[in-house]
Amino acid sequence: MVNCPAVANLRSFELSSGSSLMSDSHQQVSVQLGDRSYDIRIGNGILAETPQYLGQKSGRFLIVTDEHVQNPHANDVLQAFRGAGAQGSIVTVAAGERSKSLSALSTLYDKLVAMSANRRTTIVAVGGGVIGDLAGFLAATYARGLPFVQVPTTLLAMVDSSVGGKTGINHTKGKNLIGAFHQPRGVVIDIQTLNTLPDREYRSGLAEVIKYGVILDEQFFAWLEDNIDGMLNRDANVLAHIVARSCELKAAVVREDEFETTGLRAVLNYGHTFAHAFEALSGYDELLHGEAVSIGMICASRLAVRLGRIPAEVTDRQVAVLKSVGLPVEVPENQLTRQQEIVDCMMLDKKTVDGQLRFILPDSIGHVETVEGVDASAALECLTTT
Ligand code: NAD
Ligand code: GLY
Repeated sequence: MVNCPAVANLRSFELSSGSSLMSDSHQQVSVQLGDRSYDIRIGNGILAETPQYLGQKSGRFLIVTDEHVQNPHANDVLQAFRGAGAQGSIVTVAAGERSKSLSALSTLYDKLVAMSANRRTTIVAVGGGVIGDLAGFLAATYARGLPFVQVPTTLLAMVDSSVGGKTGINHTKGKNLIGAFHQPRGVVIDIQTLNTLPDREYRSGLAEVIKYGVILDEQFFAWLEDNIDGMLNRDANVLAHIVARSCELKAAVVREDEFETTGLRAVLNYGHTFAHAFEALSGYDELLHGEAVSIGMICASRLAVRLGRIPAEVTDRQVAVLKSVGLPVEVPENQLTRQQEIVDCMMLDKKTVDGQLRFILPDSIGHVETVEGVDASAALECLTTT
């Protein structure tokens, strides 16, 4: 077994990537990437200020959204841009993963051609991770790159997909196989948009928030343990804090490994080797991504216990927090008999090298390492508690 040194060094990183507290529910996080740097504005009821935050008082834009988000959120952003003197329109795609497709992308290219878009036309993604990934890839590829801004409206998109510049669509044979790195010019997060987000989608996003505590920040994890009610009640100040801290932690990782070349960015994949297998086996509709990540984190943590890296209490703390926000922690019964398929899916994970499974595993709450050379049989033994 080998530990990846790049990841082991993470503990020594300065994780404060430049956030500033403007008030309890208004915060700003800077993503420092040289000439691709940008700010994340976080607030409660700030959608109308989107053009001001982005310095977009004129010029042309295309808002990309989906049918669940158009009214009211994307329409509010449209009015804000028009009110600020910018010219543009809105295009709405079907909600859900199927819109991360070549055919949806083709429709969007047609729209840009029809409006004679050029490199000064800004693409504005208003929606969850599907819209951010699709619109971001549109922006990355049209006319060799258009300016792009993210207005995420799911918790998952706020704390993960809108930050870091990964964009893409799915191939029929696999998720996110076609993509590009294309950093946004800015991210505007209005936590009030979460008021309309269905409960299951909201809880799914909490899995990624909890993940940040486990991989990078014990103090944040302990804070989450103490603020379960605030998270469940979607308290504005609690939300602003968890979104800002998650963005700050992700920004710190992306700053050090923007293009995923050193192995460091892989820490964000804690639980995902298992989770991708559970999602694939469920046909992507039985489990939401965050639900699969929740179960996957517990399997990975059990693996770390099994390998003697952590005491069982470290897993127990994660189980307690995940369960208390209503997330599943056990592998669905109907998947437990499909062990070879689980291994086959895990082998497709992009961390796998030369047929060797690699896992991100905790050695305490707040710190993880990449561990190579784990036997598939050991991983399978961690699907259940016994
Ligand atoms: P999603 O975009 O499909 O949104 C989930 C559902 O919530 C959809 O039905 C959507 O219409 C609806 N919705 C969104 N905001 C809403 C709101 N405020 N009110 C009511 N309904 C709302 O899913 P997601 O979980 O946000 O994102 C998942 C996608 O993100 C996946 O495709 C995944 O691959 C991608 N992702 C990308 C990255 C990255 O770094 N680029 C990271 C993680 C995940
Ligand atoms: N969501 C994983 C990453 O951005 O690298």
